[in-house]
Amino acid sequence: MRVLSGIQPTGNLHLGNYLGAIRNWVAMQEEMTGESRCFFFLADLHSISEHLSPADRLRNVREMAAALVACGIDPERSVLFNQARVPAHAEMQWLLNGTARMGWLSRMTQFKDKAGKNREGASVALFTYPVLQAADVLLYQATHVPVGEDQKQHLELTRDIAIKFNTDFGVELFTVPEPYIPKETARIMSLRDGTAKMSKSDPSDMSRINLTDDDDLLVQKIRKAKTDAEPIPADPAELAGRAEATNLIDIYGAFSGQDRAAICQQFGGQGFGAFKPALAELLVHHLGPIRQRYLALKDDHGAIDAILIEGARKAAAAAHPTLMGAYEAMGLMR
Ligand code: TYM
Repeated sequence: MRVLSGIQPTGNLHLGNYLGAIRNWVAMQEEMTGESRCFFFLADLHSISEHLSPADRLRNVREMAAALVACGIDPERSVLFNQARVPAHAEMQWLLNGTARMGWLSRMTQFKDKAGKNREGASVALFTYPVLQAADVLLYQATHVPVGEDQKQHLELTRDIAIKFNTDFGVELFTVPEPYIPKETARIMSLRDGTAKMSKSDPSDMSRINLTDDDDLLVQKIRKAKTDAEPIPADPAELAGRAEATNLIDIYGAFSGQDRAAICQQFGGQGFGAFKPALAELLVHHLGPIRQRYLALKDDHGAIDAILIEGARKAAAAAHPTLMGAYEAMGLMR
């Protein structure tokens, strides 16, 4: 079993990233023993699909690395690095560009969403981004990739690329990876609109919980979160069609460890005026210590850079055999 996942270092880590992915990264890290390792990285090469000043990009990488450590990623036990320090990612992407099909990439919903109506003006990197993601995963022979629901299509593409490469060149080079997407937290929704996912790109900061939000702001965001006028039902089946209510209940459950049925039993018949303070208290309790660890580490650039340099050294060594295998399989090197 080899676990690998990545995150774009753009803006803050939000509750969707944390519950959809990072928390599972930490849990998987805790389960791994011996030589089997987890690889977690900042996808800074992916971030070039949108323009950013060099100073902002560097700051984002450091801050996101500090946030991952604050969430519990232990650089002694897992390999934590940024993609740009491991050139094998960019090299492998170029090799896989021969295998990936235009039609496959054209169907990627994330490209369509992000490019919007202005496809002609989108960067080439935004279009070929999923091939780099395939390179990220395949370089390390990852078997399990813990992500949120929105990455499922990219991982299906990764599988297609792995299978086609192995078949075309008659090799067993790439391991075909499995996505790992726990159901209840697969898609944490916006606090302002239960039909949109919680996202860094939403212009309203009130739509998301950032792991840097202080206690007062957390309480305020939950108090102002959109809900409906109905009380919480005693039967979870009656949550159907109530996207905002379901989202808040799922966030509660993610921290309390209860399923929807138990939460509905506990709060059934009560309005959101009673539920929201309990939810806010739970968030303050769980996120406060993460925020404190983050603030203590974030400005220690020396410590963060040392972690990333050492992580990149280990990652490069792990990626090397697969990269060489791809060159050889394609007749580019012997
Ligand atoms: P990114 O940076 O958009 O998100 C990082 C992780 O957070 C998850 N996520 C969510 N989960 C539940 N609810 C939400 N509202 C929510 N928002 C984000 C994402 O699914 C993701 O797991 N392309 C990737 C980064 C990447 C990658 C990889 C991932 C690059 N290479 C290789 C896995 C393997 C991305 O942009 O994630």
